[in-house]
Amino acid sequence: MGVSRGGFSSRFGFIMAAAGSAVGLGNIWGFPTQTASNGGAAFVLVYLVLAFCLAYPAFMAELLIGRYGQANAVSSMQKIARSTWQKRFGFVVGFGGIICAALILSFYSIIAGWMMSYAIEPLARLGGFTGAADWLINHSLTRNILFTALFMGLTIFIIRRGVEEGIEKWSKRLMPMLIGLLILLIIYVFTLDGAREGFNAYLNPDISRVFEPDLLISALGQAFFSLSLGTSVMIIYGSYIAKKENLVTLGAQVTLIDVSIAFLAGLLIIPAMYVAQAQGVAIFAEDGSLISGSNLVFTVLPALFSGMGYVGLFVAFGFFVLMSIAALTSSISMLEGPVSFVVERHDTPREKATTFIGLGILVLSILIVVNLDWMLDFVATLSTQYGQPIIAMLCCVFAGWIWHRSDILSEIKQGNEYVEYGLFWKIWPWYTKFVCPTAIGLVFWHSL
Ligand code: PHE
Repeated sequence: MGVSRGGFSSRFGFIMAAAGSAVGLGNIWGFPTQTASNGGAAFVLVYLVLAFCLAYPAFMAELLIGRYGQANAVSSMQKIARSTWQKRFGFVVGFGGIICAALILSFYSIIAGWMMSYAIEPLARLGGFTGAADWLINHSLTRNILFTALFMGLTIFIIRRGVEEGIEKWSKRLMPMLIGLLILLIIYVFTLDGAREGFNAYLNPDISRVFEPDLLISALGQAFFSLSLGTSVMIIYGSYIAKKENLVTLGAQVTLIDVSIAFLAGLLIIPAMYVAQAQGVAIFAEDGSLISGSNLVFTVLPALFSGMGYVGLFVAFGFFVLMSIAALTSSISMLEGPVSFVVERHDTPREKATTFIGLGILVLSILIVVNLDWMLDFVATLSTQYGQPIIAMLCCVFAGWIWHRSDILSEIKQGNEYVEYGLFWKIWPWYTKFVCPTAIGLVFWHSL
């Protein structure tokens, strides 16, 4: 210990950083793909309800634990625990989240690397470097290793600089750029033939599908991945928020931003799919199911962009830059969990800890790249389908069953004296105690 802690210097900085973590490949690539394969607007409706009614309370549990503990995920959990077994339980949950974040980062950086190479490709083509452009979009081993390393290098660069100079400064710049680019692209796609049909499929729910078990479970999983739950990320970000801030409102604002960007991404990609279909790219099978599946972004969109001729190069560039930015503000949050743990528990300088852990994760990434055909899926399933739901559930159990009610109340009241925390306080402890663990358990059970 004895290391001075950083913190977010402003409310805006925190919102941008936390929203930056939440908004990522999950929103812009995962959400539209899930929407397209799960009944369009019906999925959107269920997702919205679950994100606010279930993911938001679980998200608050992590933020509150972090701000109460004012430390890395493990130390924060252990501050709440009183008995020895509770402290052990706190260690397992906190450390489990840190490992989960590291595992997610190891495969996330590969996909983010693809985003970066797809962003550079149109530039190479514009410059007349056709060979280089072809290399950038062919999934070769060297290309994959190079861009994964490049992406990890950027992540390490930002995290080495700490909370205010690193995370906050970059999130504040990158997040608004992301939203602006997204809106411009939506306006562009809406001028194209076929977009109207996509608009309809996205916003006109088939209510009879709303209670389908598969749809419900997918929407719930998507909401938890999207808010970065179960990875220690929101515990550590919570610990950097000043006590004078109203956490209940801040958390709601971040949730709102996360959900809105997923919604905007759908508004771009679902109509874009119909535009591509109208242009002769096969997207839907005869029975209406999705042909491209999870490859939607990497196969369908480049095809769509190239159909736009010269302009398409700029659109492709804009889109994949946007994806890379979103991935970067998420990846820095994943690296901050393990780094803050090592810095605070083992008295290691931040720069050293960041480089060491970042390179360690990069080694794992390269191992995955070399065994791409099975390992990517394996690590992704392990961390997101098993790790995240279990740990998020345990965080709720921890807050609901171990944390003293009076301590929770005083933490909620911090920075909140003049606002009515009454309703939140009446509902939230009950929710975290019963509803959240049960519902997350359901997701986990389904993934088995
Ligand atoms: N929420 C991020 C996304 O939607 C992914 C993420 C998961 C970030 C876990 C941090 C921790 O892409």
